[in-house]
Amino acid sequence: MKIIVYGVRDDEKPFLKEWESNNPNVDVKIDSDILTTDTVGNANGFDGVVAFQQAPYSAEILNQLGSFGVKVLSLRNVGVDNVDFAAANQNNIKVTNVPAYSPQAIAEFTVTQLMQLLRNTKIYNRKISNGNLTWAPNIATELNQLTVGVFATGRIGRAAIQIYKGFGAKVIAYDIFKNPELEKEGIYVDTPDELYQQADVISLHAPAVKENEHMLNDKTFAEMKDGVIILNPARGSLIDTDALMRALDSGKVGGAALDVYEDEVGIFNHDFGSFDAISDERIKNLLKRDNVLVTPHLAFYTKTAVQSMVNTSLDASRDVISTGESDKIVKK
Ligand code: COI
Repeated sequence: MKIIVYGVRDDEKPFLKEWESNNPNVDVKIDSDILTTDTVGNANGFDGVVAFQQAPYSAEILNQLGSFGVKVLSLRNVGVDNVDFAAANQNNIKVTNVPAYSPQAIAEFTVTQLMQLLRNTKIYNRKISNGNLTWAPNIATELNQLTVGVFATGRIGRAAIQIYKGFGAKVIAYDIFKNPELEKEGIYVDTPDELYQQADVISLHAPAVKENEHMLNDKTFAEMKDGVIILNPARGSLIDTDALMRALDSGKVGGAALDVYEDEVGIFNHDFGSFDAISDERIKNLLKRDNVLVTPHLAFYTKTAVQSMVNTSLDASRDVISTGESDKIVKK
């Protein structure tokens, strides 16, 4: 069988080689190009396609893959919101994902960013590098004094909750699907509004679905505590960026750590060469603020996660090609 892996980075190659040597019956082609309408032709003659969530996988791409006889599109990440499932189904292409490559990678990063915001490290790093070794006026708040509201308690949300608890924070959570263990602890509030009203920090861990698009907007920001901190390592579409900027301007939001952005495709994971050359004015505006940390969707980027993404996606692709089945198939 033959599998083509698109958008391969150098850090993934050792894991791909190792997988290949453990699966001598599979012919793996490494392609550094990402899967687009321009590169989809490279998949002609392959049974399976492994790709990363870097671009929309549109009907045009899926129809082409279908015409090549490709049986499976395996994403080596969790999110599948960029896949046109109607077109995948029409072309009998199964879609698989990696549901849990390392929830801790995202959770640890989220809390790291929160600690940086609470301890004003962006400000101190700049002051110190300019020779100003004074303390005032940026006195910090301790996490153990705060209530953290975790929105969505899937694997990543639950990993984050463990860490927040370790710091001694009070944790409350909202999810439509309640985790039985957390429910026993009485951690859940009944509505998102309650979470917004009670939390000093809001930690978002929900997938992108149309029901939660722009769930943080002018109206919901107005419900929150003054100075609330917003953490979004999940999906850019959860936040109305213009509303967030207004809430930062007014002081309603006291800080934000954004690892995702609603218009991130083509911007994040791209080297512009200089700050001025960044092509997105809102990102530049956010990056200039002392109380905002913008990172280019890198919370996942650890050795543990990358190895798991490579192995799980290739296993799933191989299994679907040989048996038509895999527990990593996503149905929509
Ligand atoms: C995901 O796994 O869905 C992520 O958000 C990671 C990303 C770099 C594609």
